[in-house]
Amino acid sequence: MSETASITLNGSSYELPVITGTENEKAVDISKLRDQSGYITLDPGFKNTGATKSAITFLDGEEGILRYRGYPIEQLAEKSTFLEVAYLVIYGELPSQEALLKFRADINKQTMIHEDMKNFFAGFPSKSHPMGQLSCLVGALSAFYPESLNPNATVEEDNESIINLLAKMPTIVSWIQKKSLGHPVVYPKNNANYVENFLNMIFGEVTGESTFDPVVIDAMHKLLILHVDHEQNCSTSTVRIVGSSNANLYASVSAGINALWGPLHGGANQAVIEMLEAIKADGGDADKYLAKAKDKNDPFRLMGFGHRVYKNFDPRAKIIKKACDDILEKLGVNDPVLDIAKRLEEAALNDQYFVDRKLYPNVDFYSGIIYRALGFNSEMFTVLFALGRLPGWIAQWKEMRANKEPIGRPRQVYVGATERDYTPLSER
Ligand code: CMC
Repeated sequence: MSETASITLNGSSYELPVITGTENEKAVDISKLRDQSGYITLDPGFKNTGATKSAITFLDGEEGILRYRGYPIEQLAEKSTFLEVAYLVIYGELPSQEALLKFRADINKQTMIHEDMKNFFAGFPSKSHPMGQLSCLVGALSAFYPESLNPNATVEEDNESIINLLAKMPTIVSWIQKKSLGHPVVYPKNNANYVENFLNMIFGEVTGESTFDPVVIDAMHKLLILHVDHEQNCSTSTVRIVGSSNANLYASVSAGINALWGPLHGGANQAVIEMLEAIKADGGDADKYLAKAKDKNDPFRLMGFGHRVYKNFDPRAKIIKKACDDILEKLGVNDPVLDIAKRLEEAALNDQYFVDRKLYPNVDFYSGIIYRALGFNSEMFTVLFALGRLPGWIAQWKEMRANKEPIGRPRQVYVGATERDYTPLSER
């Protein structure tokens, strides 16, 4: 017999179906509750609300488990490539050799952006934040590909938008970096691999050939893979909810980029390095900043610590911490903020406030130190998060469309004024 839950409201009892996921996750299905009883549920921040059934990412925050399409993040970070993982999350299976070659070739054909888009770069003030530029430029792609606006596009037509966006994002991101430096842009090379091509456009010079240390290429793959998807987080939920109105892929992802920008979400990677720098400038006293983070009258939070879902080590943080040590050693970089980060982590993990609240380092705690060692400035960090998250956003948008999910439209409990009569201005 299938499991049900019952709820008694105002003396009447209602049976609610229980949904069980493939990893035995349980959910009470309340989708008919309002029709039957007139009641809704209230869950600010959606801390306890499943918005969808998804087959993309499994996350167990208590155990610190993260899997894309069933594959453990540790294995993918160690053995796979970013493009292969992108294929996996978007299409559901690891690609055959042939499928991967075709995927790469299809992407390589679309890496150029329309020359007119260069005018956008010219229009941004030189100090504009890269995330603002990125969301604007990704949204603007819809103007150049109006066929993407068709809400009834076929799966094949949607796939063209998917390939187009995957192909153009590295070009856009690297041109944002070039703009910030006042350097001429480097055009994509269509015979290169995705990550190498990106590095070449970011760090290459129009005046010569560039080669990259395999350590750098490997680090870039790892970082991007670790960021690919994280189920229904703030930016991904944004992509799904915007897409649920039948908005096109570019508009949906552009909205996701804006959601990611905030320092409580992807913007934390920039905030972490700025916090570590501030601690260093202030004498490097980790305890002083721990005390600030615990003081309820101080708005300061320990950036890169805590997570809505993980109540254990973020498995991505474990991999990144190790990668950080390896990369700094291999590149011979001695970054003094790494010592501060380690001291802060150790102090926090032994502090009752952090222990009680199960606050552990998250993915953003060490990633900025690696990005910096690779040569990125801190304002680019969240853009790199977005580049890594792109396949996840695409996969979630595609799944939402395939499931024909209804438009996202939460309800509310109204707590404002009850009906009152308008008072003319002269009487107020
Ligand atoms: N420093 C100090 N206290 C914290 C922190 C922190 N970083 N994070 C949570 N707390 C405290 C919070 O004050 C609250 O204490 P109390 O119960 O006494 O009121 C308790 O822990 C629970 O916090 P919450 O804000 O209710 O938890 P949440 O699930 O709503 O927020 C979070 C999760 C990630 C927004 C939060 O932990 C945070 O602000 N962290 C710092 C920003 C950060 O690193 N964000 C990146 C998240 S991982 C990557 C991503 O998702 O993009």
